[in-house]
Amino acid sequence: MRRNIIVTGGAGFIGSHVVRLFVEKYPDYTIYNIDKLTYAGNLANLKDIEDRPNYRFVKADVCDFDTMLGIMRDNDIDGIIHLAAESHVDRSIKDPFTFARTNVMGTLTLLEAARRAWEGRYEGKMFYHISTDEVYGALGFDSTLFTENTRYDPHSPYSASKASSDHFVRAFHDTYGMPSIVTNCSNNYGPYQFPEKLIPLFINNIRHGRPLPVYGKGENVRDWLYVEDHARAIDLIFHKGKAGDTYNIGGFNEWKNIDLIKVIIKTTDRLLGRMEGESERLISYVKDRAGHDLRYAIDASKLRDELGWKPSLQFEEGIEKTVRWYLDNQQWMDNITSGEYEKYYEDMYCKR
Ligand code: NAD
Ligand code: TYD
Repeated sequence: MRRNIIVTGGAGFIGSHVVRLFVEKYPDYTIYNIDKLTYAGNLANLKDIEDRPNYRFVKADVCDFDTMLGIMRDNDIDGIIHLAAESHVDRSIKDPFTFARTNVMGTLTLLEAARRAWEGRYEGKMFYHISTDEVYGALGFDSTLFTENTRYDPHSPYSASKASSDHFVRAFHDTYGMPSIVTNCSNNYGPYQFPEKLIPLFINNIRHGRPLPVYGKGENVRDWLYVEDHARAIDLIFHKGKAGDTYNIGGFNEWKNIDLIKVIIKTTDRLLGRMEGESERLISYVKDRAGHDLRYAIDASKLRDELGWKPSLQFEEGIEKTVRWYLDNQQWMDNITSGEYEKYYEDMYCKR
């Protein structure tokens, strides 16, 4: 079946894996990657598929209503997978406005554009919004997990903006009948993640022998999922999920930050031919993040039981693959840290 699908934020970390999966798996679909190319957008993430006949890149801001409506109408778009967002908690603490603009207004703009483009004819259409487990707030050190029924209780400007966008998506379903799905996923890791996030930042710092800033005592807990498993879940839910529903996605894989950091150090040292654990001396305990949520943990059993999804990679395997990827792709990392990656997309796209 032919389909025309928008993926927003496709030049970012998770979006690039989703775009690659869809472009490769569905040659009959045309995938429109809409991305503003903020500091986090990097077209080098999609270099291997950029010449595929079923892939189009559009540099645009999801807050630009006329452009969003134009793309939807001109290309007969029937599915939207919305990942574009400001995604880093630390940045949201410094600059909450940008988060409200892109995450809240950007999502609302896309929803309203889709409502106009589809003009109430919703059969075969889908608006799929990618969200985070951070909307549920923080858990204590017990065995409780976030389920789809957990009450929203966001604490950071990032999670507050994502919570608000989730509510708008559900409001469009309940008010206008727009077929929509929201999924809330735990922390992703893997290739192409911007090195402001814990795992790529630490791998790169270990490589260069730089300090590893551990917030607080390193006791916060996150659930980690390999990014390709998230992309597979998105594919499954986009095609088989029930409109109006919410699904939690997680790795059943909780780690205390400091324990995770020690695994990253061990693996990176080994792959660099250093003595395992040698880089533990780089650990530097720094001031805690403001409002730092203690623990996130996802109950992904609804997705497992209803749609048969489960993570395919063991964590040890995923971390090994991830560290190896960053070490094998040092140019990708160096182009980001030097700012060179922005020149790549200026040269490739912006002058056209
Ligand atoms: P990212 O920061 O790596 O990428 C975001 C992408 O969105 C970038 O390519 C950026 O250029 C683009 N973008 C930002 N503002 C835009 C705008 N106004 N218009 C168009 N494009 C814009 O983010 P990520 O980690 O890949 O996360 C993708 C989505 O998944 C986000 O919605 C995030 O909330 C959600 N999520 C992320 C995680 C995680 O662990 N990274 C976990 C759960 C959910
Ligand atoms: P991060 O990758 O920013 O994801 P999120 O805040 O969305 O969970 O951070 C993961 C965890 O690691 C989080 O508890 C904060 C912590 N952290 C550090 O201790 N040091 C760092 O330099 C960073 C970026 C994060």
